[in-house]
Amino acid sequence: MGPDRRLAGEEAREQLGKAAEHQWRERSGQQRGQDQDQQEDQATHFGDLTRPDEELLRACRANKEVVGVGGVRVCCGEVSSHKREKVVVFGGSGFVGSRAVELWGADFELLAPTHAEVDVLDSDGVAALLNAARPDVVVNLAAGAHVDAAEAERGDRNGRVYALNAKLPGRLAELCREINAYLVHVSTDYVFDGRQAARAYREDDPPNPLSWYGESKLAGERLVQEAHPGACVARIEMPFSGRAHARTDFARICVGRLEAGEPIAGVTDQRITPVFLDDAIHALHQLIAHRYPGLMHVAATDWTTPYEYARSIARRLGLDAGLVQPTPFEAFSATRPAQRPKYSWLDVTRFTNQVGPSILRTFEAELDAWVAQISSTVSRV
Ligand SMILES: NC(=O)c1ccc[n+]([C@@H]2O[C@H](COP(=O)([O-])OP(=O)(O)OC[C@H]3O[C@@H](n4cnc5c(N)ncnc54)[C@H](OP(=O)(O)O)[C@@H]3O)[C@@H](O)[C@H]2O)c1
Repeated sequence: MGPDRRLAGEEAREQLGKAAEHQWRERSGQQRGQDQDQQEDQATHFGDLTRPDEELLRACRANKEVVGVGGVRVCCGEVSSHKREKVVVFGGSGFVGSRAVELWGADFELLAPTHAEVDVLDSDGVAALLNAARPDVVVNLAAGAHVDAAEAERGDRNGRVYALNAKLPGRLAELCREINAYLVHVSTDYVFDGRQAARAYREDDPPNPLSWYGESKLAGERLVQEAHPGACVARIEMPFSGRAHARTDFARICVGRLEAGEPIAGVTDQRITPVFLDDAIHALHQLIAHRYPGLMHVAATDWTTPYEYARSIARRLGLDAGLVQPTPFEAFSATRPAQRPKYSWLDVTRFTNQVGPSILRTFEAELDAWVAQISSTVSRV
C-alpha cells in the first residue's frame, strides 16, 4: 500500500470513527453539544436512562418503544439507574438481530448499525466503529444465512458467503480481543452432518458440514476461537417467531400454507430441536451476563420432527392437520439445492448446567409461547 492510499484510508477511518463516536453519544443520550436545545431533543430520542427526561420517562412508564436513528429501537420496560453495558450488534436488521435489538433496548446501550451505515465486509470501517465506540460486548448476527443460495458459491473462499460467515467473525474476534470486548458470535446446527441418530449433538461432537453455508459457518467458528478464546460461539437451531419479518421461518410457512388450504410436506424421520426466537435472545443475553467462553448450544430441550411440528401448529390454530403430508427425509432433501443434516438436533445440557433451567424449554412449551405471540400480533405472516 503506498503512502497516499494509507493516508486516504486513515482519513476515512478517522471520519468514520468520529461519526461512530457521535452516533454512540447520541444514542446513549450523552451528547455534549453546545446547543442545549439540540441536546435535549436528542436525549428524548436516544434515552439517557441514567438521567431520563420527562418525555422518555412517560414513554418508559407506558412501556412504549422509542425509535432512534438508523431504526434502532429502545424498548422501555424498566427505568434503571445502574450503568448499562455498551453492546454493538451487527446484523440488527435480520431475523434474529431485529428481535435482539427489540428485546435488549432496556438492558443495554445498544448500537446496531444498519448495512447502509456500516458494511461489515469493510474491515477498516468495522475497526473504526469499534475503536470509536469501545463497546463492552459485540454480538455478531450478520451472516450470509440463506442455505440454498450459499451453495452457488461452494468452494469459493473469495466469495461473499465465505467473507460474511468465516472472515468477518474472525476479524471481529481479533478486534474484540484488541479492545478487550466480549464477543458472542452466532452459529448453526448445520456445522454437523446429521448422521448421529443415537443422541443429540453436544458442543464437543466433531462437526462435519454438508453444505457450503455450514462449511463457511464452521470456518467462522474456528477463526473466532483461534483469535479470541474468551469469545462465545452460540449455535442456534431453526429459530421461529410469531412476529413478522421479511425472512420467514418454518412455523410461519406452515401457517401461510395451512390458512390457504394448501398441503405442506412434513418430514417424519428427521429429529430437530427448533428454538423459539425470544428464548434464543434471552439465552444470548445470559451468555453476555455470564461472559461464557467457548461453544454453546441454544435450542429446545427436547426434539420433534417437522411433521409433528406442522401438525401441532395446525391443531393449535384450528387448521386442517390433514394438509401436512408425511414425507421421508430423503424425498424432501432431494428437492433442495443444499444438503441438510438429517438428525439436526442440539443437546443443551451445557447451557442448562451453566446458566440454569429457566430459559430453554420443551418444544411444546415453546409453541405455547409462540401461539400467545402470534395471537397478540396483528399481522401473522
Ligand atoms: N434463521 C435461521 O434459521 C438460522 C438458523 C441457525 C442459525 N442462524 C444464524 O443466526 C444468525 C442470524 O441469522 P438470520 O436468520 O437473522 O439472518 P438474516 O435475517 O439473513 O440477517 C442477516 C443480517 O446480516 C446483515 N448483513 C448481511 N450482509 C451484510 C453486510 N455486508 N454489511 C452489513 N450487514 C450485513 C443483514 O443486513 P441487510 O439485510 O441489510 O443486508 C441482516 O441484518 C446467523 O449467524 C445465522 O447463521 C440462523
